[in-house]
Parts: sequence; structure tokens; C-alpha cells
Amino acid sequence: MALNIVIMAAGKGTRMKSAVPKVLHRLAGRSLLQHVLQAVSGLSAQRIVVVTGHGAEAVEAAVAAPNLAFVRQMPQLGTGHAVQQAVPALEGDGITLILSGDVPLIEAATLRTLVERSGGDKFALLTIELPDASGYGRIVRDGDAVRAIVEHKDATDEQRRIREINVGVMAVPTAKLKQWLAQLGNDNAQGEYYLTDIVALAVADGVPVLAVHPRSVNETLGVNSPLQLADLERRYQRAQAEALMDAGVRLADPARFDLRGELVCGSDVEIDVNNVFEGRVELGDAARIGANCVIRNAVIGARALILPFTHIDGEVLGVTIGAGSAVGPFARLRPGATLGEDVHIGNFVEVKNSTLAKGAKANHLAYLGDATVGERVNYGAGSITANYDGANKHRTVIGNDVHVGSNCVLVAPMSVGDGATIGAGSTLGKNAPAGQLTVARARQVSLTGWTRPIKTKK
Ligand code: UD1
Ligand code: MG
Repeated sequence: MALNIVIMAAGKGTRMKSAVPKVLHRLAGRSLLQHVLQAVSGLSAQRIVVVTGHGAEAVEAAVAAPNLAFVRQMPQLGTGHAVQQAVPALEGDGITLILSGDVPLIEAATLRTLVERSGGDKFALLTIELPDASGYGRIVRDGDAVRAIVEHKDATDEQRRIREINVGVMAVPTAKLKQWLAQLGNDNAQGEYYLTDIVALAVADGVPVLAVHPRSVNETLGVNSPLQLADLERRYQRAQAEALMDAGVRLADPARFDLRGELVCGSDVEIDVNNVFEGRVELGDAARIGANCVIRNAVIGARALILPFTHIDGEVLGVTIGAGSAVGPFARLRPGATLGEDVHIGNFVEVKNSTLAKGAKANHLAYLGDATVGERVNYGAGSITANYDGANKHRTVIGNDVHVGSNCVLVAPMSVGDGATIGAGSTLGKNAPAGQLTVARARQVSLTGWTRPIKTKK
């Protein structure tokens, strides 16, 4: 049976007080609309129609999915009017599933239940009882049977006491939907064409209306204001934290944890407070993450230790940290940083597009950019690779067992042979041979008979 999906995303989102269209605001790193598209992605719909209006161009440019089509609603005359715009794009006479672009945490399982319960000849409506239902459309029942939805602004005092509300998600026979939409009027408190009026039309048509309930209240919560967005973010983060902890990950505090993407953890992983994970991050067995790190697109090996306040950003190239390595505190790993096993990166060290082999150390205040660093190298405090000549980047190659003293400048392209020692304070523009001490700095002199200048009095 053909399944069409309509996502209403044309509203202005006035209460966000933002130039960004509401459905493009981000929750856990993805737009609200992306969350909804993710939820519907597994339903194998023939058509996904997103109704855009306010900020239509930005919304249309921001999302892509197979079978996705946009229709524009100009001006925006209500949710019923929004779905009317989608009618020409609806295929076949199966089921149409209607969702709101600002209810991001709806789950695929709930949507599947709605579609199954509709079966193509019934009206399946997502409802939930809320302690405070004000603002929502109320579900009016006659005994057990759903009769209608009454919007808050149109409801009588008695109807306002109803706690069962319309979430705004429904699965409806497509052919009937088209008929009912054509009958909508706007004679109501808001002068809008209400989608919710199709419930009473279904009842009048003899089509059974079945109420379906979600697994979690989070699925029903809409975003209308910055406060609601932040509240939903915390609920979502809590749910992600609980899922990780169920799998054995030890979070110091599930309330101080943020995952904006995907986190894959081995066993006995420990994560201290205030960490932010973005993109795709893998943590090997017994990896430990200290407090206050931001980690994006990285693979961190078993037993690795990331000390507090470390920033790891793999961007597109990624960052790899070998087993048993220690990074931080206050370290910065940038795209293409590839650390082997038991590598140590200490405070205020920046590594970009560089490979450090097993046992290499850069413990203090250093920069390694476009470098290949051999095993057991000790890279001294304050040393840098001068990898950029103002136009192009060049590589520095450092062999095994090299000792680079403090405050050296390695002007690339250059190489340092195995076992070489570079004297502190050297600026090297040529290759340094293996096994030798290379020093490139002014010779130290001491002047006898020199006196300090004395301040002249006026
Ligand atoms: C709507 C429902 C209400 C329900 C509530 C749940 C109606 C009439 N009311 O009310 O029963 O309890 O959601 O959150 O449907 N939109 C358009 N075009 C428009 C108007 C809205 O695309 O002309 C979109 C909005 O972008 C939003 C969704 O429809 O994604 C819901 O619109 P909103 O104005 O938030 O409806 P509510 O008043 O919350
Ligand atoms: Mg709303």
C-alpha cells in the first residue's frame, strides 16, 4: 500500500524570536527537521512532502532525502491549509502520515504503529494525556470513541479540563484525506484552516478514529521557544546518556553529558563531566575521558587517557589516538593527527596532519604540523615545525629515537635522521643527519669588564 508522508514546516516560529526558520534550529547538533526526517526514513514511503513557507529557501536547501519533495504554502493559513498544498504531490490511494516539523523526538516505532493501526481504511491519531494540556488541541470523546479535536482557543471551559491532547501526528486514508481537506472552513477563533477538523469529518463519514499513544512523552513535545528547545535538548541528552549507561559506559554525571552525533564505546569506558562529543567518535575498551573536553570525529584507542580541557577536532580527515596514549590536559588535536600506541601529548601542544609513531612524546607547548614523527621521539618544549612558507605547506620528517631539544624551529621541508639530537634553541633549515648532535644557534659568549648602563640624571 502506498505510503505518503507530509511534514508541516511552514510556520514562522514567532516565539523563537530568530531570523532562522524554526525547523532549522538545532537539537543535539541536527536541525529539528532532520530529526523528523530521520524518524520517517525507515518507513519506506513512496513520497515525503515537506510543506515550507516561512524561510522556505533556507529550509529547502538544508535538508535532502530520497523521495523528498517540497511544496510551498504562501501565505500560511493554518495546518489544514498546509496539508491542502501537499495534496497534488500525494501518490496513490494508500495512507498519508502527517507530522509536524517542530516535534523532533517522534520515534519510528510510534510512526509504524500509527501506519499499521490505520491499515488504509481507519484514522489513527497520536494522543497523550498531559498534566497541563493548555495550548493543545483537546481530544473530545463520546464514551470511548474519539469524536473530534477542539483547539484550546475554541474550547469550552469543560473541554479545557480534558487532559488528552492531539500531538499533531496522524495516519489517514489518502483518498478520504483529500475529500475532508476540501471541506475545511476557517470559521474559528484563529480564522485558520485547522487540520484537526478532519477528525469530526471522519467520524461523520463513518471512518473509525483510533487513538495511539507514544512510548515516551518526549515524542510529543513541540519546540516553540528557546526555553522549550533547551528543555528538549536536556531530555534527549538524558535519554542518550541512559542508553550508554545501560550498555555499561560510566558517565560521571548523565546530566552533564552532550552527544551531538554518534558515540561508539567499548567496555569499561569512563567519561567525566562536561564533555561534548560531535560527529562520530569511537572510544576503545577502558578509554577514559577527563572533564571538559570537546571531541569530534575521532577514534580513540583502548586504555587511552584524554586529560581535562582537551580539544580534539577531526573535521573530515579525522583524528586517531592509539592504545594507551595520553593526551592533555589542554591539548589540541586537529584533522589528520594520527597517534600510534603509547604516545604522549601534553599541555598546550597542537598537532595537525601529523603522524606520531609508538612511544613518541611532545609534552609541553609545542606545534607539530605536516610532520612524520618516528618511534620514541622526544619533542621538546616550545619546539615547532615551520610548515608554511606563506604559500605552501611542507613536511617535516623526524626519524626514530630523535631528541629535539626545547625551543627549536624545524623549517620544512626538512628531515632529521634516526637517533639525531637537536640542540635547544636551534633553527634548522637543512636536514639533520642521523646519530649526530646538530646545533644551530649563536655561540654563547661572556664579556669580561662589561658594566651595566647607569641611568643619567637631568
Ligand atoms: C497544533 C494543533 C493542535 C496540537 C498542537 C500540537 C492544529 C490546528 N492544531 O497546534 O491540535 O495540539 O499542534 O503541537 O493543527 N504550520 C504550517 N502552516 C501553517 C501553520 C502551521 O506549516 O499555516 C506548521 C508549523 O510550522 C508547525 C505545525 O504546522 O510545524 C504546527 O503548527 P503550530 O502553529 O505550532 O500549531 P499549534 O497551535 O501548536
Ligand atoms: Mg506548535
